Amino acid sequence: MQKILDAIQADELDAIGTLPVPESYRGVTVHADEAEMFAGVPSRDKDPRKSLHLDEVATPELGPGEALVAVMASAINYNTVWTSIFEPVSTFGFLKRYGRLSPLTKRHDLPYHVVGSDLAGVVLRTGPGVHQWKAGDEVVAHCLNVELESPDGHNDTMMDNEQRIWGFETNFGGLAEIALVKSNQLMPKPAHLTWEEAASPGLVNSTAYRQLVSTNGANMKQGDTVLIWGASGGLGSYATQFALNGGAIPVCVVSSPEKAEICRKMGAELIIDRNAEGYRFWKDEATQDPKEWKRFGAKIRELTGGEDPDIVFEHPGRETFGASVYVTRKGGTIVTCASTSGYMHEYDNRYLWMNLKRVIGSHFANYRESYEANRLIDKGLIHPTLSKVYQLEDTGQATLDVHHNSHQGKVGVLCLAPEEGLGVRDHEKRAKHLDAINRFRGV
Ligand SMILES: NC(=O)c1ccc[n+]([C@@H]2O[C@H](COP(=O)([O-])OP(=O)(O)OC[C@H]3O[C@@H](n4cnc5c(N)ncnc54)[C@H](OP(=O)(O)O)[C@@H]3O)[C@@H](O)[C@H]2O)c1
Repeated sequence: MQKILDAIQADELDAIGTLPVPESYRGVTVHADEAEMFAGVPSRDKDPRKSLHLDEVATPELGPGEALVAVMASAINYNTVWTSIFEPVSTFGFLKRYGRLSPLTKRHDLPYHVVGSDLAGVVLRTGPGVHQWKAGDEVVAHCLNVELESPDGHNDTMMDNEQRIWGFETNFGGLAEIALVKSNQLMPKPAHLTWEEAASPGLVNSTAYRQLVSTNGANMKQGDTVLIWGASGGLGSYATQFALNGGAIPVCVVSSPEKAEICRKMGAELIIDRNAEGYRFWKDEATQDPKEWKRFGAKIRELTGGEDPDIVFEHPGRETFGASVYVTRKGGTIVTCASTSGYMHEYDNRYLWMNLKRVIGSHFANYRESYEANRLIDKGLIHPTLSKVYQLEDTGQATLDVHHNSHQGKVGVLCLAPEEGLGVRDHEKRAKHLDAINRFRGV
């Protein structure tokens, strides 16, 4: 591994293909025999530092259409929180099911799961049938893993009936020194970014792009008012940038003055601190309080000059969904990709049907949308929202930060990169965007 790292650091990328691929590598794993370790423990007290391990694991055999990548940096996504607390289900069920598909996918069904759905790094080897990429290419990877053997996904690759999220529903993810991907997950690494910056947008940037911008999602247009929950978080920090970049008007919901300040730094003007306002959408576990929905709606109107949101960018789920449906304007769209606070949503359907609102379900992004989202990063039109970077051995702590919502934007992890700040090729372009790239750092 050291020889590979030396070659990358010495910029001898042509040599990468000639260096032997190590038989094993260090990866962050959960263990199948620990899937019950948190039984009876409240969700918040389930500690990823106990369930995530840094193990030496065998390098998987490379199959057709695949690539092995030397991972310089990765990032924490909420799916690693879910995997590490074994909620709502253990991810070993995903690996088992995938393993039944073919002899090739059987490789993923192991008693350990190497997690992580983002990476920036250098291609080590490509499998048979890969011609667009070669050893030595500097890449990032999106996390859409599809078989595409049936016609279902041929218009929109997210519709494939064998659609999975790499590093969550498949093995050999990005929180490791080496990762296995399908080569069509690979995209060029933006040259003006460091390894850790380039690794951080992938999953959330692509998801927010489909959810908000794409015709498969809310199809946002200029002038739309967009209510964004968790506007300084992983998804929200990209949704806020897409709204601003696309001429829409974001109304950012956050939970502290520091988070409000970050949204201002991104250029947002309309901000609601949900903690300061003290909204209690639920009177108790079973009963919502429509008066609180109204109070929330009135606050939005106060900020927008009387307008209701054309689009509500939803992901908190049960806790906020009733309010989201209520505050959306007549004919507007609630677009949801998650249910962090609970997936059994309740809302008053009268407000939906009488006001001709629509709920759209959105999940990750297809190949094309992922590529378009990465291109916006590459063009310097959308920027990474990296706040803090951990070493690979501290991935448990990094995941705990996200689990406890004590982070801002994205949390990065150095894998092979020995320190932060490496990997930049285009210094001129970087200088132009430096303030924007660093907006979230050290907050
Ligand atoms: N379907 C997909 O493809 C997809 C892709 C990415 C993520 N997700 C899911 O989306 C969710 C968010 O992911 P993320 O990366 O954005 O996570 P994140 O970085 O933790 O950000 C989420 C933000 O939501 C806000 N929030 C959390 N709980 C809330 C609540 N009960 N009420 C109101 N706001 C709340 C928090 O902001 P404030 O505290 O500042 O309000 C937090 O910063 C996760 O469940 C994740 O699994 C789904």
